Amino acid sequence: MAAKRIARLNERTADTAPPGSSATQMRTHMCGELREGDVGKRVRLCGWVATRREHGEHLAFVDLRDHSGVTQCVVGGSVEARSEWVLQVEGTVRRRPAGNENPELPTGDVELADCNVEVLARAEPPPFAVDDRVESDESVRLRYRYVDLRRPRMQGNLRLRSRVLTALREAMLRQGFCEVETPLLWTPTPEGAREFAVPARLHRGEFYVLPQSPQIAKQLLMVGGVDRYFQMARCLRDEDLRADRQFEFTQLDVEASFVSASDVREAVTEAVVEATEAAVGERPGEVKSISWQEAMDRYGVDKPDMRFEMELVDLGEVFAGTEVRAMAAQCVKGLRVPAGAQLSRNRVDALAERAKQLGAKGLASFKVAGTRSGGEPVLESALEKFLSATERAGLVSATGAVPGDLILVVADSWRTACEVLGQLRLELGRPPVGTGGRRLCWVTDFPLFEGLDDEGVPIAAHHPFTMPHREDLDLLDSDPLAVRSEAYDLVLNGWELGSGSIRIHREDIQRKVFDVLGISPEDAEARFGFLLGALRYGAPPHGGFAVGVDRLVALLAGEENIREVIAFPKTQSGTDPLTGAPKPLSAQSLRELGLRVEAR
Ligand code: AMO
Repeated sequence: MAAKRIARLNERTADTAPPGSSATQMRTHMCGELREGDVGKRVRLCGWVATRREHGEHLAFVDLRDHSGVTQCVVGGSVEARSEWVLQVEGTVRRRPAGNENPELPTGDVELADCNVEVLARAEPPPFAVDDRVESDESVRLRYRYVDLRRPRMQGNLRLRSRVLTALREAMLRQGFCEVETPLLWTPTPEGAREFAVPARLHRGEFYVLPQSPQIAKQLLMVGGVDRYFQMARCLRDEDLRADRQFEFTQLDVEASFVSASDVREAVTEAVVEATEAAVGERPGEVKSISWQEAMDRYGVDKPDMRFEMELVDLGEVFAGTEVRAMAAQCVKGLRVPAGAQLSRNRVDALAERAKQLGAKGLASFKVAGTRSGGEPVLESALEKFLSATERAGLVSATGAVPGDLILVVADSWRTACEVLGQLRLELGRPPVGTGGRRLCWVTDFPLFEGLDDEGVPIAAHHPFTMPHREDLDLLDSDPLAVRSEAYDLVLNGWELGSGSIRIHREDIQRKVFDVLGISPEDAEARFGFLLGALRYGAPPHGGFAVGVDRLVALLAGEENIREVIAFPKTQSGTDPLTGAPKPLSAQSLRELGLRVEAR
């Protein structure tokens, strides 16, 4: 149908074709392309009606839009052309009359005159204005995503995404990596997320599982001698959706043999730096590296936002022999809030409430009001009168506080003190997304296990294929929580951009880790016998990484939600207002799949 219509159009335009263009061309230029140098040319544009303004009875100004921009076309007033109709306009480029230029538009010095207009498609009035300046309800935007995508911001984001994907791919190929696709119909793996299941029609009662990542597949590729693999991998996880999480997302997935952790990090850094340059035109600054322990100590999180300082300070020495009960704990940590003395009483109370919500027993706060003549600081705090003079002075000098600052202190377990102040640091100081530059850093040497579950069994911090630090192998039995791993994360402005590790390539160590994780040998054999089997057939030492592409693109685009950089995302509640998914299956489909749905 469409082809026929285009053919007809081409016939019709054959004898009026603009000079220099082939008669079969529907358009000679893009709507954002014309400049003063084009004045006098007969051109043909195609696009959507962005606006139409009447100019007396006989003339109208139609702004014609495509993804590259808009051009003002002066058309006869009798031509019907409403908002979002699709037109082909042939006209002559002319300079706009003096005083009528629009400096905000790249095409603002020119317009199309003597126009012939062909309506290619009519349109119902759009459900919202196709305009970046108009905020529309998100569910309506997603319901009419094809209209929403016409907005310059969305077009910009999709094209930025395309540049990022291209640059990542080129950087990997240049470094000798080979792109291999892995199955989407896969099997359950112990990587931590809930998986989507797909019923197998030919094997009633059995299911495929959609991969939460190609983790095991890429390890098998290493056993298969692929040596250096990458893939733009679609991953699927049935987890609660947030600003940085979707059910479906894309990873730049990487794996390499005979490498150290720093080899992997270098290859990934190169790809991410190149992609950043391709997307925004500048390379990020130095990519720092920091151990997990240090990140927790200084920033209170494993994904430090290094765009601002406000580092946590250890106050253990200051309060070593304290008489103040609230300050006697395994760990005492402080956070200086510059100019925080201005915060209202209510705000400071709310911070204390927040600290409790986050798991602290309490939050001590000290406003630095000034200095006495002897140099002793004046502190305003409920605890002030209980502190010794040395503690008061120590608190101020250790945190580097000056009059006008606020000092927040948590005395608790090391983990709680770090995590609570780390969160308050973010809530008090974090610059908005898209500001403060781009600060990439590697966080290395994560613990192998992140804690114990209700039954006292360790929980894998990354995934169970991660290699324990060689020096810590003996601790696997005696003190598993102290075992460090060869796992590393890449962090950009406080977002976890990706993670990876050196893997276990020896069957005995893999079995041992399964054992510590409470996975019995029979269970391990039944669930991942295929992996353990592969490890018996000559597995090279290997390691890898996965970059969350949606997060990278969102950060580069200055967006706070990855939905803004995904063409057809799901809502917070996991639905797609455009297609209506998820939907019930027909009775016949259910029968074929051998499924029965229980009443809700
Ligand atoms: P991990 O589970 O840490 O590691 O995932 C790697 C990166 O993928 C991105 N990501 C997501 N992005 C959007 N929505 C989601 N639901 C989502 N989940 C994860 C994040 C994250 O840092 N196989 C390992 C990698 C490896 O060890 O090589 C893995 O998938 O940016």
